[in-house]
Amino acid sequence: MEIIFATHNQHKTEEVRAILGPDYQIKNLPDIGCPDIPETADTLKGNALQKAQYVVDHYHCNCFADDTGLEIEALDGRPGVYSARYAGEGCSYQDNVRKVLAEMEGMTNRRACFKTVIALILDGEQYFFEGRIDGEILTEQRGTDGFGYDPIFKPLGFRQTFAEMSAIAKNTISHRGRAMQQLKEFLANRPR
Ligand code: IMP
Repeated sequence: MEIIFATHNQHKTEEVRAILGPDYQIKNLPDIGCPDIPETADTLKGNALQKAQYVVDHYHCNCFADDTGLEIEALDGRPGVYSARYAGEGCSYQDNVRKVLAEMEGMTNRRACFKTVIALILDGEQYFFEGRIDGEILTEQRGTDGFGYDPIFKPLGFRQTFAEMSAIAKNTISHRGRAMQQLKEFLANRPR
């Protein structure tokens, strides 16, 4: 079965191919020549659906899209849906990490979670899947692997930050890994 994953991120595409396995031919946005899709919704679900719907409308295919946010309790859920550009338009991962560390200086409540929402449009029907991992924001960065907020996020019950874990260990427990597993189970069990 061929299905489009609405992302330009090659790393995420390979991750999804590995999770879904050989029964699915996953193509991403560069594969189909699709430009950047605007993300203007104010929820993860809204953004994921906006991306999937854009591809379905323009390319008439089955498609799924994901959107992820880091929600920090003491920051009233920020950066949330604005995780990618928290420190401003065009900012780097390091800019975002430094902004979070600065905002949380002296705060004792370090609880946070990553959430991923996947929107799937299959034969014109919409389906949603959510993955979540709880953890805490450290007071300084640890580890060099991964990306984004990985060096300051330590999942609950683990000693390492996401940036200190192997990709396989992280994907097994991560927000995105969990949401992708749900997508995989849904696709495998859907009536045909
Ligand atoms: P996206 O929706 O996957 O593009 O994620 C939005 C933003 O959330 C990214 O730009 C990262 O800053 C952050 N993010 C998403 N997934 C992760 C992760 O697994 N680790 C750390 N940060 C992440």
